[in-house]
Amino acid sequence: MCGIVGFVGKKQASPILIEGLSKLEYRGYDSAGVAIIDKDHINVVKCKGRLRNLENKLSEHPLKGIVGIGHTRWATHGKPSDINAHPHNSQDGTISVVHNGIIENYVQLREWLTSKGYKFVSETDTEVIPQLIEYFYNGDIVEAVMKAISRIKGSYAIGVICSKEPGKLVAVRKDSPLIVGLGKNEYYIASDIPAVLNHTRDIYLLNDNEFVVITEDGVKLLTEDKKEIKRDVYHVTWSANAAEKGGFEHFMMKEIHEQPKAIKDTMTSRIMMDKPVTLDDIKITKEQIENIDKIYIVACGTAYHAGIVGKYVIEKLVRMPVEVDIASEFRYRNPIVNEKTLMIIISQSGETADTLAALREAKKQGARVIAITNVVGSSVSREADDVLYTWAGPEIAVASTKAYVTQLIAIYIIALFFAQHKKTLSAEKIEALKKEMLSLPVKAEKVLGNKEIVQEFAEKTYKKEDVFFLGRGLDYAVALEGSLKLKEISYIHSEAYAGGELKHGPIALIEDGTVVIAGATQEKLVEKMVSNIKEVTTRGAKVLAFAFEGDKDIEKAADSVILLPKTLDIFAPVLAVIPLQLLAYYISIKKGCDVDKPRNLAKSVTVE
Ligand code: F6R
Repeated sequence: MCGIVGFVGKKQASPILIEGLSKLEYRGYDSAGVAIIDKDHINVVKCKGRLRNLENKLSEHPLKGIVGIGHTRWATHGKPSDINAHPHNSQDGTISVVHNGIIENYVQLREWLTSKGYKFVSETDTEVIPQLIEYFYNGDIVEAVMKAISRIKGSYAIGVICSKEPGKLVAVRKDSPLIVGLGKNEYYIASDIPAVLNHTRDIYLLNDNEFVVITEDGVKLLTEDKKEIKRDVYHVTWSANAAEKGGFEHFMMKEIHEQPKAIKDTMTSRIMMDKPVTLDDIKITKEQIENIDKIYIVACGTAYHAGIVGKYVIEKLVRMPVEVDIASEFRYRNPIVNEKTLMIIISQSGETADTLAALREAKKQGARVIAITNVVGSSVSREADDVLYTWAGPEIAVASTKAYVTQLIAIYIIALFFAQHKKTLSAEKIEALKKEMLSLPVKAEKVLGNKEIVQEFAEKTYKKEDVFFLGRGLDYAVALEGSLKLKEISYIHSEAYAGGELKHGPIALIEDGTVVIAGATQEKLVEKMVSNIKEVTTRGAKVLAFAFEGDKDIEKAADSVILLPKTLDIFAPVLAVIPLQLLAYYISIKKGCDVDKPRNLAKSVTVE
């Protein structure tokens, strides 16, 4: 969950490292630091807090040198502090390390190193790495890193520099992302592509247990037994601008506005009128589909909420039983999985530790795994049997928006693909569904053009301490996502309930002035939602509802209504989530919160 960068070239490393870290701050922002080799000495500047604190410190103590590493932290072992900030040096100061991940056996390693006379200054797990490397160093930094790694258990992407070999940077990954950027006579390592995009679009995607050795002469990729690896260069097609704010004040607002395009891109070449649903990237055969008797959808957070939509949609269109599970629960409850199970893993980053562990568990038990992910080359994409990429482009704001709607689109695509193979829908029905899907980008654009009512409601709500979301069927799934968006970026306590559950307890919380957001897009359930709205307004609640245009009953029952362009019920979540994202955004702004980097969170949760 942290971000690491590294640079070897002819230019000064410091501004390049800082710029790279600014693109990775979404991964963590508890502290930041850089280490740069100046002749035969490593200088480190690091401090608690946001990257700007580090920039201020560097303006007072500039660092010279053309080889360096940098880090932005999301604290796990050891509180956010100057001392616990990375890079961490070995005892004699000759080796400096940045690390993203967790060293599981650090306590034993720390005790063992302490018995050998090593002294530790931080509370982190990471500090054992430079100390171990120093212990093993015997004139060859690559050898020493390899020996140290063979002693380490856990997940890591590590960047290492050594003042005794000042032109070199060594890196390695296992279960944490790492890419290598290939510039002209200059090279980079980073946890994610945006960090290098201003310099190069040519990158190497690394696999687990691969080592990288960078000097001014180039990049070598090595296996654990020092065999050189040949790797194709991956050329990034999206531009550096895709990872910039592009005129919006926040990434979240920009990404909300990118949704129509992201929806369209995710359907491109997969959903076409009068052509079968084509999934070039999915190799599952008709026979394998026939063999499946159960589907698990497993994910975390927002991706899990997309999974709940998936259950409703797949069960409806494909008539197969679907269970949705939170990845961290799935892996510890001995789920019933076998060769007849299909697992659909959903993960924007493709690096979420719990999701990855669930994928591995299911594969071990014989399941076939399809991954829906946004990141090419991510761990999930490499370990799944099939991958359906969401073409949302880089999502930088910590709160997920465009990734969620593209996950929904990916689910519809998979459902249609299965329905086509299993013939659970007629060809005419599939054509009708495709036609409606293809109209979603324009409809999403229309929803974005109707922000006033959301802004007005945000004005009335931002001082509240609690907000409740209600919905039935797919509106319940959307309610869960709306509630998560609100709590994560505005810090208002919010809960989502299935409308029918209201009277089984939650209604006790409704009092004069309580804010309730109610979804009513599902035709067969609208009447029931009207009753739910009445139940809460009678008790003094103020209700903002979302419903399709022309729904007079809801307009009468609720205090304010967001009217969505009409679509089929199953596609409603794609449109209905947009005003809820906007509501969370406007409330967050009114409260003065940090929209893109909410407290305590990080974009990609690569630890358990
Ligand atoms: C919420 C959010 C998180 C992620 C969750 C899974 O806005 O972004 O709840 O959805 O951490 O992340 P991925 O999809 O990367 O596995």
